[in-house]
Amino acid sequence: MQLNEKKEGTEMEPRMGRNLTIGWRGILAAGLGLAWLIGIVGAAGGAGVSAQTATSTRPLLSDEAFKNVQVLKGIPVDDFLGTMGVMCASLAFDCSDCHEAAGTDRVDWAADNPIKRTARRMVTMVQTINKDNFQGRQVVTCWTCHRNRDRPLVTPTMEVMYGEPPEQRDDVISQAPGLKTTAAEIFDKYIAAVGGTQRLSQLTSYVITGTSIGFGGFGGGGQVRIYAKAPDKRSTIIEFKDAPGRGDSSRTYNGAAGWVKTPLSVLGEYALSGSELDGARLDALLGFPGQIKSVFTNTRVGFPSSIDDRPVQVVQAEGPRGLMTTMYFDSETGLLLRMIRYGKSPIGRVPTQVDIADYRDVAGVKLPFKWTFAWLDGRDSFQLTNVQANVPVDEARFARPSTAIR
Ligand code: HEC
Ligand code: HEC
Repeated sequence: MQLNEKKEGTEMEPRMGRNLTIGWRGILAAGLGLAWLIGIVGAAGGAGVSAQTATSTRPLLSDEAFKNVQVLKGIPVDDFLGTMGVMCASLAFDCSDCHEAAGTDRVDWAADNPIKRTARRMVTMVQTINKDNFQGRQVVTCWTCHRNRDRPLVTPTMEVMYGEPPEQRDDVISQAPGLKTTAAEIFDKYIAAVGGTQRLSQLTSYVITGTSIGFGGFGGGGQVRIYAKAPDKRSTIIEFKDAPGRGDSSRTYNGAAGWVKTPLSVLGEYALSGSELDGARLDALLGFPGQIKSVFTNTRVGFPSSIDDRPVQVVQAEGPRGLMTTMYFDSETGLLLRMIRYGKSPIGRVPTQVDIADYRDVAGVKLPFKWTFAWLDGRDSFQLTNVQANVPVDEARFARPSTAIR
């Protein structure tokens, strides 16, 4: 394989910066993030999972779901696919760069080839480095060396030494010494900015309609519907009316369990159990922002920073089941502008970033009408057209997708 060579015209399109077609990035770009990957696993060749497994509520583990898992065993399928995302992002690879059956341009997930074997060896290498040198702390990852290329750079260059440094933020933030502002104060300011405790507590449900844009090459965007019920239920459905027969895709969290449904996939519909379940819970809880103070523990305030030249206050904390989450609040308005959460994988953190904009008044509360959802290789923008607050929402909206009302 050549350096960063990309194959044009296969089902897997080149990553980033080009128009997306129906490849996995396109599916990712529908804004449900990582969990959607599972769709293409099935759509592009079949990982051979039985229908039985797909409909069970028990956590589905990597070595049960897939055929040839040797080093990434025993992890939830959503975290397994996050692991694949870390590999893609670290090496600037597309899935097919490691998954083409030898001598073909056909994707065969389970088959081994030299590059996939190298990657497997690197997983073990990374884990060994961390164990032998860093007490098992996950400080060396694929990204540590690869930084978006297949062969890591070896020698310092003058351009980097003396050039403009790229913006690089640490992902782990510790409490900045000497800062007077506490996380509780930043949360309080946010709560006040979006309507205040009193009015927020009166928001008990809403139904959103909108579109998802940034879905290039697929004949237009998806139609989005979101149902939310306090304190922690949320269901997002995306329909692709321009692609009849494709069926809708959804992500549902009912307060305890979560599911992803993606048509045309082998898993089809499956229960979330890894970091994606925690992310789904976080999204559901923060859909009712008055709860922000009870959602997070172990808060720390980082040094103030900026996003697009706007000064921001930075809070990092642990969300559901310890999900590491960083939040950036506009220092002037107090509004939440960005949230990054970090899922787990055996080879490094799996970031999901939400950039939030266009807060508007709904029933005396400010809700964002626009947000961009970005995962390691996929990005999509949601634009809301309508929000109805405090309308009755049937519990069945939050059921397992195959039994839910639509
Ligand atoms: C850098 C190489 C690399 C890239 C890029 C990569 N994978 Fe993998 N993939 C692997 C390795 C290595 C394994 C085997 C892991 C093991 O043995 O534990 C694997 C296993 C899999 C399996 C299990 C197949 C089976 O039945 O055993 C699936 C499914 C999969 N990858 C999907 C993907 C998807 C989807 C992408 C794109 C997001 C992707 N991979 C990108 C290296 C890669
Ligand atoms: C300690 C640094 C380091 C880490 C960490 C690391 N790699 Fe590598 N990797 C390398 C080097 C160096 C090469 C090139 C070796 C060569 O030129 O022979 C390489 C090569 C590769 C290749 C072959 C690329 C090609 O085009 O031939 C793959 C695939 C790969 N690494 C995957 C991974 C994955 C996946 C991870 C994380 C699990 C990872 N690496 C972590 C240093 C690292």
